[in-house]
Amino acid sequence: MKKLIASTILSLIFASTSHADTDLKQHAQKSKMVVKEFMTQLKGELQTAMKAGGPVNAINVCNEKAPAIAKNLSEKHGWKVARTSLKTRNSSNAPDAWETKVLNDFETRKAKGEDVKPMAYFEAVENNGKKSFRFMKAIPTGEVCLKCHGENIATPIKAKLQALYPDDKATGFKLGDIRGAFTITQPIKF
Ligand code: HEC
Repeated sequence: MKKLIASTILSLIFASTSHADTDLKQHAQKSKMVVKEFMTQLKGELQTAMKAGGPVNAINVCNEKAPAIAKNLSEKHGWKVARTSLKTRNSSNAPDAWETKVLNDFETRKAKGEDVKPMAYFEAVENNGKKSFRFMKAIPTGEVCLKCHGENIATPIKAKLQALYPDDKATGFKLGDIRGAFTITQPIKF
């Protein structure tokens, strides 16, 4: 009898952990799709603007469209969807404590040789009695990003960036650096 109870309890524990695990994996899967949506929309806008009027013109896309896409996706999914970085251009993208820790972990993982492109992290966290699922996906610095985030930024671009973002910290990046991350916060009950 004792054995039976013990094994029932054990299987209950296993069932609940694997259930929570599956839940987390499903949340992560959904988050990855939302990140992809964000990336596709932004990339499309950026490429069109670059073609139409070069990088100076495209600054408006990052300045206006990026926050608009984030807001739109947040409303559509009922989650907080944003971009963040250890070195932000716009201080309203600054990371909170959890995000800072994950961004630092990403740097460590990269230093150990991990590929940045698929790098991600997720966790269920509790803050002030509120539970949420949090997801982050690293954003690598590509060639096109260097025009506005690199070490040698052309004078007209620099001037416009400085006018819009006097507190800009998002320059000096090299190809392949971690530029930042997409970050998603989803309220959950479990
Ligand atoms: C035409 C100039 C331009 C190009 C090209 C560009 N960015 Fe940006 N980026 C900006 C501006 C402007 C902001 C500030 C947006 C805001 O106000 O939220 C920004 C913000 C960001 C942020 C949010 C964090 C922060 O610093 O505030 C990330 C992440 C980012 N860019 C990544 C990239 C990546 C990756 C690429 C290449 C695929 C790229 N950017 C290309 C101008 C650019």
